[in-house]
Amino acid sequence: MPVDLTKPVTVPGFSQAKQEGRKLTMLTAYEYLWASLFDEAGVDGILVGDTLGMVVQGKSTTLPVTLDEMIYHGEIVARAVKRALVVVDLPFLTFQVSPKQAVENAGRVLKETQASAVKLEGGRNQARTIERLSNADIPVMGHIGLKPQSVRKLGRMAVIQRDEERLLADARAAQEAGAFALVLELIPQQIARTISEEIDIPTIGIGAGPHCDGQVLVSHDMLGLTPGFRPRFLKRYAEIRDLAREAVEQYVEEVQQGEFPDSAHSHD
Ligand code: KIV
Repeated sequence: MPVDLTKPVTVPGFSQAKQEGRKLTMLTAYEYLWASLFDEAGVDGILVGDTLGMVVQGKSTTLPVTLDEMIYHGEIVARAVKRALVVVDLPFLTFQVSPKQAVENAGRVLKETQASAVKLEGGRNQARTIERLSNADIPVMGHIGLKPQSVRKLGRMAVIQRDEERLLADARAAQEAGAFALVLELIPQQIARTISEEIDIPTIGIGAGPHCDGQVLVSHDMLGLTPGFRPRFLKRYAEIRDLAREAVEQYVEEVQQGEFPDSAHSHD
């Protein structure tokens, strides 16, 4: 069924897409111009991810990102977006302490950004928190498989998660607790397929193969803005960094040579 670009995407709209067998598309965004462009291009969801810490702030992990920073960027993105569902990540240590802490912080996100939902990393270990958020009418997207906020425990950034039993238990727990959708990160495609078939809420894959109900990519990666980041799962749909560098080098050269500004770009 063709995507209706005129109607705003809602939380129930995500479930409906799964029921209708329509694949969901998501990208991350952190600022106004890119968010409005992705929205115009027809993505169903925009995630203000805590990858903010890495692709925008240049840090080596997502751990230092604060709730205030997520709210700052979430508000900008939600203001830019007319159709897509805007989801804001809860950063490290803003939901793990207690369900009460999570409700207070996720509540701030919804009140201060106009986003529709929050995302948190966790399955069984966060089931109580997902339930409390859901009971407070705060839509939650779960996130299982590779959880980048666990980087210190894992010892490295990217580890493929292969324990099918654990992953299925996490997925079921997130669904039962009330999550409306679930990110599957860095999971073998057959396991992602089983999870997507076993649960009713839509699965949104990143590095989890083609059988998920939708896909999400970090926009800076898929647009070729992040230098040298080429994991197998990532398709770089453009090389914007190279284009931008060529443009800037040409500008520097032309100014130095006295070719810019020429008469066409000068006022009489
Ligand atoms: O923070 C983020 O951008 C994410 C995606 C990798 C799904 O969680």
